[in-house]
Amino acid sequence: MEPNNVFSLLLIISLWFLLTFHSNAETSTYIIHMNKSFFPQVFTTHHDWFKSTIHSLKSKTLVPDDYDQASKQSQKKLVYTYDHAMYGFSAVLSSNELEILKNIDGFVSAYQDRTATIDTTHTFEFLSLDSPSGLWHTSDFGDDVVVGVIDTGLWPESQSFKDDGMTKKIPNKWKGTCETGQEFNTSMCNFKLIGARYFNKGVIASNPNVTISMNSARDTIGHGTHTSSTVAGNYVNGASYFGYAKGIARGIAPKARIAMYKVIWEEGRFASDVLAGMDQAINDGVDVISISMGFDDVPLYEDPIAIASFAAMEKGIVVSSSAGNAGPEFGTLHNGIPWLLTAAAGTIDRTFGTLVLGNGQSIIGWTLFPANAIVENVLLVYNNTLSSCNSLNLLSQLNKKVIILCDDSLSNRNKTSVFNQINVVTEANLLGAVFVSDSPQLIDLGRIYTPSIVIKPKDAQSVINYAKSNNNPTSSIKFQQTFVGTKPAPAAAYYSSRGPSHSYPWILKPDIMAPGSRVLAAYIPNKPTARIGTNVFLSSDYNFMSGTSMSCPHVSGVAALLKAAHPQWSAAAIRSALITTANPLDNTQNPIRDNGYPSQHASPLAIGAGEIDPNRAMNPGLIYDATPQDYVNLLCGLKFTKNQILTITRSNSYDCENPSLDLNYPSFIAFYSNKTRSMVHKFKRIVTNVGDGAATYRAKVTYPKGSVVTVSPDILTFKYKNEKQSYNIIIKYVMYKKENVSFGDLVWIEDGGAHIVRSPIVVAPTGIV
Ligand SMILES: *[C@@H]1O[C@H](CO)[C@@H](O)[C@H](O)[C@H]1NC(C)=O
Ligand SMILES: *[C@@H]1O[C@H](CO)[C@@H](O)[C@H](O)[C@H]1NC(C)=O
Ligand SMILES: *[C@@H]1O[C@H](CO)[C@@H](O)[C@H](O)[C@H]1NC(C)=O
Ligand SMILES: *[C@@H]1O[C@H](CO)[C@@H](O)[C@H](O)[C@H]1NC(C)=O
Ligand SMILES: *[C@@H]1O[C@H](CO)[C@@H](O)[C@H](O)[C@H]1NC(C)=O
Ligand SMILES: *[C@@H]1O[C@H](CO)[C@@H](O)[C@H](O)[C@H]1NC(C)=O
Ligand SMILES: *[C@@H]1O[C@H](CO)[C@@H](O)[C@H](O)[C@H]1NC(C)=O
Repeated sequence: MEPNNVFSLLLIISLWFLLTFHSNAETSTYIIHMNKSFFPQVFTTHHDWFKSTIHSLKSKTLVPDDYDQASKQSQKKLVYTYDHAMYGFSAVLSSNELEILKNIDGFVSAYQDRTATIDTTHTFEFLSLDSPSGLWHTSDFGDDVVVGVIDTGLWPESQSFKDDGMTKKIPNKWKGTCETGQEFNTSMCNFKLIGARYFNKGVIASNPNVTISMNSARDTIGHGTHTSSTVAGNYVNGASYFGYAKGIARGIAPKARIAMYKVIWEEGRFASDVLAGMDQAINDGVDVISISMGFDDVPLYEDPIAIASFAAMEKGIVVSSSAGNAGPEFGTLHNGIPWLLTAAAGTIDRTFGTLVLGNGQSIIGWTLFPANAIVENVLLVYNNTLSSCNSLNLLSQLNKKVIILCDDSLSNRNKTSVFNQINVVTEANLLGAVFVSDSPQLIDLGRIYTPSIVIKPKDAQSVINYAKSNNNPTSSIKFQQTFVGTKPAPAAAYYSSRGPSHSYPWILKPDIMAPGSRVLAAYIPNKPTARIGTNVFLSSDYNFMSGTSMSCPHVSGVAALLKAAHPQWSAAAIRSALITTANPLDNTQNPIRDNGYPSQHASPLAIGAGEIDPNRAMNPGLIYDATPQDYVNLLCGLKFTKNQILTITRSNSYDCENPSLDLNYPSFIAFYSNKTRSMVHKFKRIVTNVGDGAATYRAKVTYPKGSVVTVSPDILTFKYKNEKQSYNIIIKYVMYKKENVSFGDLVWIEDGGAHIVRSPIVVAPTGIV
C-alpha cells in the first residue's frame, strides 16, 4: 500500500468517530472528480478504487461488522465510474460522508447531481445542401462519420434508421455496441444505427423505488428519435405530417452513422446519466456529439456538458449543443461553453394552407389541421361581439355550419389570447375558423384542432371588408398544402435563448443559427402528434417539432459533413468554418430579423454569426484555430482554482503561465460598464490560410453604433497554404445613448473575392450578463 493510501485510510478512520455522532440520514447523488495520478497501484481498476473508497466510508458508518451487508450497501452507493469525459465517479452520499471524502488524497471537486433542461424535410433545400458541387457531394453525404446523439433514445423501427444504401462496413475505430433491454435487442441495430446504449443509474439513485417505464434505448418521449433522424436519418420517400411538408425525408448527413446514448428518461434527467452517456460516447469512438439539452446557470467546472466536451475536444470530437428555449431576453442562454458549438434556432421559409374568399381572393395562411377537411363556400361570420372568440357560450349559440373570423385584437390582444381562441372555437365545434394573429409562438409551437387557418393581421383587413360588404359572405379553407419560399426567412425564433452566456460571457454565444421551427423528422408512433376536436388523438411517424433541440442536430449534421470532407480539421477549425461563412442576411437580402422583437434586426446575441451555410463552410479561406492549451489559458485567465481547472482538464498537466481571456475565437464581444459608458478593448487573433495557396485579404469593418474599430494590419498576405498570420483589433466605445447592445462586423475579403471571412462584433453593457 502506498503512503498516500495509508494516509487516506487513517483519515477515514479518524473521521469516522466524528461522523458517528452526526445524523446522516439525508443522502444525495454527488459527482466526484479525482486526480488520476493518485490511483493506488494496489487496485487493478479505477472502479475498484472508487468502490473501495466508498465502501470504507460506508462500513465505518453503518455496519462495520457485517462485510456482506456493507459490501451490498457500498455497491448501491457507487453510481457510475467515469474515465473518458472526466475522471472520477458519482455516488450516493450523506453530506458527512462527502466531507470525509473531501479529505482523501486525490480528491479534486464534488458537486450535487442536477437536472438537465431539454430544449424540439425541407430544411436541407433551404440550406442549399443539394447543389451538385456542394458539401453533400464533397463529403459523400457524411459517409463513415459517427454521430453520437445524447438524448431520449430512439425508435429503431423508424424508416429513418434503415440502412439501405449504407456502406456495409462499420468504421474500424468503432467500439460501441447495441445494448439489449426492454423491447430492444442487438438485431435492431444495423449499418445506419450502429450503437444504442442507455444510462439511468442516476435516476434510480435519486429514487430507488422508481419503476423505469422503458428500460432500454427505446424512445418513449419522441425527442431523441426526432433529433437523431435530423442529424443523420436515411432517405425516406413520402414522409409527411398528415400530408404537410410531404417529400423525401432525410437527415443533414444522410450517410453518417448514428449511435444513440439514452440519458433522458420520463422518470428523470440527471447530470450523472448525461456524463455517463458522454463518457461512453467518447470511448466508443464517435466523431461528433449532438446534445440538445443543457444545464442552466452552472459554472463551467460544475457543468457536465462543459466537462465532458473538454475531453471530447481534446480528442478532436466536435460537440454541438443547443442554446436553450428561454428567449427572447438577453442572458438566457445555456451551453455558452468556449470549446463547443452552440446553436440558436431560426424559422424556415415554409407555410401551409390557403383561405379563399367568395370573391375569389386567395390568402396563404398557416394551418396544420391533420386531415383533408372539406370546408367549401361556408358562411363567414364577422361580428364585433362574436369575433373576440373568447366566449364559448356565445359561439355555441351560432349555427354550427359557419366559419367564424376570430380577431385577437378584439380580445385585448395579448400573447396567449389566440391560443385561448383556438380552444374556445374547438369546444364550440364550429365547421371552421379563421384566426388573425402574427404571434410567433403560435406559428412556431401552436397546434390546430378544428378545421381552421391562421392569417396575418396585414391580410385580415381585406377579409373583414369582404365580410362586412357582402350579405352572404362565404369562404373556403384548403388543407394539406405546403408553400415554400415564404419571405422573409429565416428569422431568429422568438424562443431561442439569447446570449451572453452566464458561465462565460467573454466569447460571443450563440455561435450560429440553424432551422429550428417546425422541423419535420421521425417520431415515435405510439404518442399523439395531433388532435381533432377535444378528444380524438392521432399519431404519425413524422412530426413537426420546434426548438433549439431541433437546430442543434442541423449543426451537428453539417459538422459531420465537414468532418468527412476535412478529417484533419480540429473541432475549433470546424466551428470557425461554420461561423465565418454563416449568412447574416435573409431571403430578401436584408439583415435577419428577430421574431422575439419583431421590429428589430436580430443581434448576434440571438443568431450568432447568422444562418449556417454548409456549402460555404466547406471552403472558408481562413480559420481561427485553438488548441487545448488555449482553453486552459482561458480557464487560468478566469482565476479558477487549481482544482476547478483540474475538474475540467482532468489529470493532464497543463500550465497556467499564460492566462488569457482572449481566446482565438472567430467573433468578438466587448463589454462596457454602464457607469462610465466608455471602453477600449483590444483583441489579438491568428488566422490560418486554408485556401489553395498564396492569397491577400483586406479588412472591411462595419462599426457597431457608438464604437470605432481599428484593425492592424488591415491587409494580410499569405504566401502558402496553412501559413498563419496575426492581427489586432481595437474596439473603442464612446457613449451612445440610443442602444445598449450594438453590433457590426469585421470581414476579411480575399482579393478577387474567392473567400469572405466574416466575424460579428458585439458591444454590450455589463448589466445584460
Ligand atoms: C429481437 O427482438 C425481435 C422483435 O421483438 C425478435 O423478433 C428477435 O427474435 C429478437 N432477437 C434476438 C436476438 O433476441
Ligand atoms: C421506497 O419503498 C420503501 C418500501 O415500500 C419505503 O419504505 C420507502 O419509504 C420508499 N422510499 C421512497 C424514497 O419513496
Ligand atoms: C353579433 O352577434 C351577436 C350574438 O349572436 C348578436 O346579438 C348581434 O346582433 C350581432 N351583431 C351584428 C351587427 O350582427
Ligand atoms: C391574455 O389572454 C388570456 C386569454 O384571453 C387571458 O386569460 C389573460 O388574462 C390575458 N393576459 C393579459 C395580460 O391581458
Ligand atoms: C494531481 O496530482 C499530481 C501528482 O501528485 C500533481 O502533480 C498535480 O499537481 C495534482 N493536481 C492538482 C490540481 O492537485
Ligand atoms: C447599470 O448598473 C447598475 C449597477 O451598477 C445596475 O443595477 C443596472 O441594472 C445597470 N443597468 C443596465 C441597463 O445595465
Ligand atoms: C437597454 O436600455 C433600455 C433603455 O435604457 C432599458 O430599458 C433596457 O432594459 C436595456 N436593456 C438591457 C438588456 O440592458
